[in-house]
Amino acid sequence: MKKLAAALKGIQQNIPPIWLMRQAGRYLPEYQLERTNFPNFMDFCLNPEAAAKVTLQPIQRFDFDAAIIFSDILTIPHFLGQTVHFEPGNGPRLKKVGSERVDWDSFLDKAEDIEIQELMTPVLEAIQNVRGSLCSSKSLIGFAGSPWTIATYMLRGGKTQDFSGTVQFAKQLDGAFDRLIRLLENNIVTLLIQQIQAGCDVVQIFDSWAHVVPLLDRPAWLWRPLQRIIHAIRQSYPDVPIIYYGKGVADHYPALAQMIPNLAFGIDHSVDCAWARDNVQSVAPVQGNLSPEKLMAGGFETDVDSILEKLSDGPFIFNLGHGILPKTPIAHVEALIKQVRNPRC
Ligand code: CP3
Repeated sequence: MKKLAAALKGIQQNIPPIWLMRQAGRYLPEYQLERTNFPNFMDFCLNPEAAAKVTLQPIQRFDFDAAIIFSDILTIPHFLGQTVHFEPGNGPRLKKVGSERVDWDSFLDKAEDIEIQELMTPVLEAIQNVRGSLCSSKSLIGFAGSPWTIATYMLRGGKTQDFSGTVQFAKQLDGAFDRLIRLLENNIVTLLIQQIQAGCDVVQIFDSWAHVVPLLDRPAWLWRPLQRIIHAIRQSYPDVPIIYYGKGVADHYPALAQMIPNLAFGIDHSVDCAWARDNVQSVAPVQGNLSPEKLMAGGFETDVDSILEKLSDGPFIFNLGHGILPKTPIAHVEALIKQVRNPRC
């Protein structure tokens, strides 16, 4: 069985599988080189040959236990009519919908009629290409953003620091916001099911902005949509493991594990591993959680020892607590993998 799949089925392994969130990316010179062929980032994501090539780059260089398909969580809004551009230094920019409820109602009227299946073909071709050249012991991870995390970009037209403004705007939109979340749920299900059909054997849902949702709104904005998405995927694919990465919301994981059985949990680097062992790993596989800043800066050996010591006795996947940073030295990634595979004690 694939090492990642085994961990996700609840099997403890003396040497845990390792992969890194955002492992295909700007810290790799070979990625940077390929990127120069595509001034527009979305053209890059939607080119099957290029996407397959950069998906495999970190596997060829580091021999990670899993590849994650090179794409972006913003392909869905892109397909739904909010064309996405990436500006260096400014992050993503999405075509603005407007600031009134009527603007959103008319956007949703159009977006609800869009069938993303056809538009996704390049992503699926990339997955088939990768599967053809990926060794059978390695997993291929498909992914999507959560409805809320995708919505934060859609509502504000890009990356924002003003999350209280985003929450306020979502509340102001009222019924239109609920419609947006439902629309995203449906498209996320379509995307993930197609990714599995094309050859992904694991999927991860990225909820990088989960923590900005007010506590009392979390059931409606985060947990019920997550539950509906997972239920829909499992109707077609009951055995494909699903990882939920919710930044800053690990205190909900024990309750979520009861609500959604057989879900695995990604923990960010603010989570104490002894707490995760006792409260999450006792009921579900855990993935995480070295600080990306530490990996970049160096001097992370004792952190790695401590994570391994606390989490290696149960189902565990070594990863970072969030995506790898672009300035991370290659040598640090090499040293990390060596340490995880040859622990010092
Ligand atoms: O290697 C992998 O993990 C697969 C590819 C992947 C990308 N984005 C490629 C990418 C994945 C899994 C993502 C997820 C993603 N995208 C998230 C969730 C995870 C997280 O880090 O929080 C989010 C919030 C996005 C949205 C996004 N895409 C932003 C905010 C940005 C710009 C800033 C940044 O972090 O890079 C992107 C661009 C992006 N997506 C790049 C890559 C390699 C860099 C683009 C470039 O080459 O200039």
